[in-house]
Amino acid sequence: MPETLIGKVVRGQTWLDPVSDFIQKLGKATYRVLGPAGPPTRNLMHGTWLLRHPLHPAVTDVPIGAWTVGVVADYVAHFTSRIPESAGDIALAVGLVVALLALITGYTDFGDTFGLERRFAIAHGLLMTIVVVVDAVSLALRWWGSQGVHPIAVALSTVALAVLLLGAWIGGHVVFGIGYGVNHDAFLDGPEDWADAGQTDDVPVDGMHVVEAGGMRVVLARAGNRICALSDICTHAGGPLHEGTLEGGVVTCPWHGSRFRLRDGRAVGGPATFDQPRLIVRDTDGRLEVKLEESLHEP
Ligand code: FES
Repeated sequence: MPETLIGKVVRGQTWLDPVSDFIQKLGKATYRVLGPAGPPTRNLMHGTWLLRHPLHPAVTDVPIGAWTVGVVADYVAHFTSRIPESAGDIALAVGLVVALLALITGYTDFGDTFGLERRFAIAHGLLMTIVVVVDAVSLALRWWGSQGVHPIAVALSTVALAVLLLGAWIGGHVVFGIGYGVNHDAFLDGPEDWADAGQTDDVPVDGMHVVEAGGMRVVLARAGNRICALSDICTHAGGPLHEGTLEGGVVTCPWHGSRFRLRDGRAVGGPATFDQPRLIVRDTDGRLEVKLEESLHEP
């Protein structure tokens, strides 16, 4: 079965780990070089800022579509002459321009992967990088080569499309098979009606307190003289928020440093792109009760 075969092959590529180490360090160093512009740029590339949804999968649709159209146009032009050769060249160029953004967003997301997902993610990233390089060579031949090399350029784009399909399969497996990038609170249940959350005094003045309430692990903390409650499971990869840090009304996850605003759960720093589920809190004679602000599953 092809799925199992590809999965087994990628899983066995231990040489990808030192390559991943190097690329993750390079990515972090690159954002550090940007100075104060580094964190907002990184948030933009993850999709935490502006799109407020993962950016990489949205961007990748453009080159995949453009390159597919380009290869089809190449062959239609070659065999029927119903469209000019330049149609394939233009589609290839459009795909390449947007593919650069796809590479940046993809390698930015890759910076926070680990274990099995990291091995599959780097296989995906390297294949897509090869596709970009091969298509760039193809475009250069079309623009600067003689008419005689055009068939070679078409052959290169065709091979690149085949590699792209393999890379896309692996990228899809990273998300749908391994679960990287999905909202880790998507399958949670929580209290839709008031549920007991312990004593008010248990919530420290400067720290966080975790409780089980209505089947959900909830982190409680004070923002000024108000107590706020969020799901304790980080939407990015499931990290325990109560083990992180709290500063200025913002909780920082201990695993990859995503930051969430306590008062509304908003993701204000990546890699998380999804907000934390927020619960409303009431205090009755020193006893806390919480319930979800919005149902997690009902419309
Ligand atoms: S689990 Fe990755 S930032 Fe929280």
